[in-house]
This record gives sequence, structure tokens and C-alpha cells, in this order.
Amino acid sequence: MEQGEVGVGSGGGWLHFFRMSMEALPRVMADGPLAPFILETMLGKVCWVDWSEVAGEEDGLVEALYTYGHPLVDGAMMDRFPRLRVISNYGVGVDHIDLAAAARRGVPVGNTPGILDGATADMGFALLLACARRVVEGDAYARSSEFTVYNPGYLLGTEVHSSTLGIVGMGRIGLEVARRGRGFGMRVLYHNRSRRRDAEAEIGVEYAGFETLLGESDFVVLCCPLTAETRGLMDSGAFSRMKRTAMLVNIARGGVVDTDALVSALRDGGIAGAGIDVTEPEPLPRDHPLLAMRNVVIAPHLGSATVQTRRKMAERSLANLAAGLGGEPLPFRIGG
Ligand code: 8YV
Repeated sequence: MEQGEVGVGSGGGWLHFFRMSMEALPRVMADGPLAPFILETMLGKVCWVDWSEVAGEEDGLVEALYTYGHPLVDGAMMDRFPRLRVISNYGVGVDHIDLAAAARRGVPVGNTPGILDGATADMGFALLLACARRVVEGDAYARSSEFTVYNPGYLLGTEVHSSTLGIVGMGRIGLEVARRGRGFGMRVLYHNRSRRRDAEAEIGVEYAGFETLLGESDFVVLCCPLTAETRGLMDSGAFSRMKRTAMLVNIARGGVVDTDALVSALRDGGIAGAGIDVTEPEPLPRDHPLLAMRNVVIAPHLGSATVQTRRKMAERSLANLAAGLGGEPLPFRIGG
């Protein structure tokens, strides 16, 4: 059964009964298509309403918003749903939700912290390694008709082990990236709003000012949330401070990077390459210059996209949803 199709049908009999009973269920507006596990878990518990059908209209029956992708939720939208009781986000980043507006309206917002850090850090390292060792270019070449003679001189990459890793944002995901960096024998610098002396002692990472980190790192990995302070953090000035041989990895949010400045830095040799899981806009227009650059490895926002992690995200976000609908405290509420 697909999202938005619940209860749709005509005629009497069991279908009519089914429709009536679905209509008695709490209405939850969700952007989809939702994963089968989510639909199965909530079958008979909620009535899903398609985001595009009611997002612009008033609906006195919608009681919850379930943000599966990253649809924008602002105060004006919340006001269209006078019975709104909870917003549950499938994921940890909530820059698409106006948290202050939700707080003013007394609507709790839940997310899924603590379960996607390892998967996201793995993805960061996958992109880092792919850029450094030219894995995507190598894959294309190995499959092409051009690969007829082995040549030890082609596709030389840059070393990861023994290099310097700079992590911007030392939250849970940054910490996991740091562990991987240390495992690869890297010197690990980090920049964060506050010192993480626990991480310094436990993992052996070094705090650095933002500009020092940019100047000394061979790989700069963005792990910070998108906020008013971090929007456009990686601008042309920041790129000009990086080594020309350095590479940028973005597993945070596209908005942390000024996309035009990134294009210029890559095109003019300001930096050597970029591995990007997130972009702004997302997706990029199909004719965007980044998509044609050989020194870019790009993924369609796959940071937490493993079978195991997606399942945990579903469980956690649905627990928040159910608690909010039941008038209970959310197990994972933003802001406590
Ligand atoms: C998810 C993410 O893929 O958690 C986040 O903030 O961006 C990703 O883990 C996403 O939220 C699901 O739409």
C-alpha cells in the first residue's frame, strides 16, 4: 500500500468499513515515498497524508508532521494545522525545521541522534579515500576500451596515511571521523565551537583555529550542522587558505559550502579535489559544473544510507511520532 492511498476507494462493504476506520486514525502528513518498513510498522496506527496534497492548505485534522526527506517546515505551515501535536524528523539534522517557531507553538520536535554517526563517518571516509586514490576515475578507466596496457605511471593519487586530517565540527559524527583518521595513522586537527578535551585525551586529536586547520590539513572534512553561523563557512576566503593539494569532504549540509566558490577553487587549482555527499541545491541542476569535474566525487546524500542505520532511524523517529501523538514526552526531543 502506498502513502496517500490509504482509505482511497469507492463503494461499500469491507472497503468502506476499512476507509471509515482509517479516517478515525490520527492524520500524519509525511513527505514520501516512505520506506516499506515505516508503512508496515504504522499500519493501522496512523493515516498518512501526502505532503504535496495538504502542505499549502489548512487542515484541521492533521496532528503530526513526519519529515522523511528535508521538506521545509516553518511557522506559517505549522499554523495551517491547528491540531498539530508533534513534528518527527527521520534524521538528525533539522535545519529545514523552524525550531523556534515550533517551540513558540508548544510543538515538540524529535530527531534520531546517536545512531547514524558511524555510518555517516564511514561515508565521509569512503569519499575521502575515493578522492585521494582516484577510485572513481580508476573504475571508469578499468572498464573503458582505453585500458589495454598496464602503466605504473597513470592515475597517481595522494597518500592518506601519514597525512593531516582537519575536522570542522566535533560532534558525534566528527568524533567518529576522527577515530577513523587515527586508525589510518593520520594527524587529526579539529575545529569546534568548544574544545573537546575528552576527545583530545581519548583519541589524540588537536584543537586548531579555523584558519590554522585550513592551512595545515590535507583533507578537510565538514561535520558541522547547518546554522546561521556555519552557512557559507567554506567561502572563497576559506578555500584560499587551504593547500592547493588539499581536498574537501562534505558530509554536513550543502549550505555550509558556497557552491560557486567551490567550483572556482576546483577549477582554478585552489584545491585538488572534493568529495561531496550533500549539495546546495540538492540535487544540483543536471547541467551543474560540479557534475562534470573529474576531481569531484559526488554521492546523492548517502551518509546514513545503510540497511541497518535506516532501520534504526525509522524505529527512533516512529517512537517519537507515537509518543507525540499519545501526548507522551518524546524519547528523542530536540532541546530536551
Ligand atoms: C538522512 C541526514 O539521510 O540525519 C541527517 O541529518 O541528513 C541523513 O542522515 C536524512 O535526514 C533522511 O532524509
